[in-house]
Amino acid sequence: MQVPADVERILIDEKTIEQRVTELARQVSQDYADVDQLILVGVLKGAFIFLADLARKLTIPHRVDFIALSSYGQTATSSGVVRLIMDVKVNVEGRHVLIVEDIVDSGHTLDYLLRNFATRNPASLRSCVLLSKPGRRRVDVPIDYLGFEIPDVWVVGYGLDYADKHRTLPYIAALKPEVYQS
Ligand code: PRP
Repeated sequence: MQVPADVERILIDEKTIEQRVTELARQVSQDYADVDQLILVGVLKGAFIFLADLARKLTIPHRVDFIALSSYGQTATSSGVVRLIMDVKVNVEGRHVLIVEDIVDSGHTLDYLLRNFATRNPASLRSCVLLSKPGRRRVDVPIDYLGFEIPDVWVVGYGLDYADKHRTLPYIAALKPEVYQS
């Protein structure tokens, strides 16, 4: 498959992602071994591929649900104000909840999610995040399961987009800076 012209380089290849997701799933399965059902909450759209792969590697009973968020202004990073577009269907009260995110950048989105879900009285609440850009953090948020730390570059693929493009690339790639810095 051809690498798109606006991609600078592949940061994390398909095999490395697969191995790390397998490790994360093993860890989650161990930690929740005694739980009757884990609720995975995927954050649309970015987490859809990560969640699909992670969930299929779990060896414990689980349910999958989704939530959609948006932010006022261009990005959650710039505004810090997050808005709920679509809520989960499941009532999480008394349930074990794992928020599944593709990336934590400023931390505003995950911070909003953790605060929001905490008010619903879950039995437990944790986060599982594929990518973290620690250099961009504005809010300190707890990440319980992390795939990879990455530098401050715009990444696409494996669910992540640029202007809604490149989400289904099988790898995680850095975009050419001139594409997003113009
Ligand atoms: C991305 C990503 C996280 C959020 C992280 O979502 O999926 O939800 O930004 O950024 P933050 O840590 O600065 O809050 P985006 O708004 O791009 O929507 P998408 O998942 O639909 O692409």
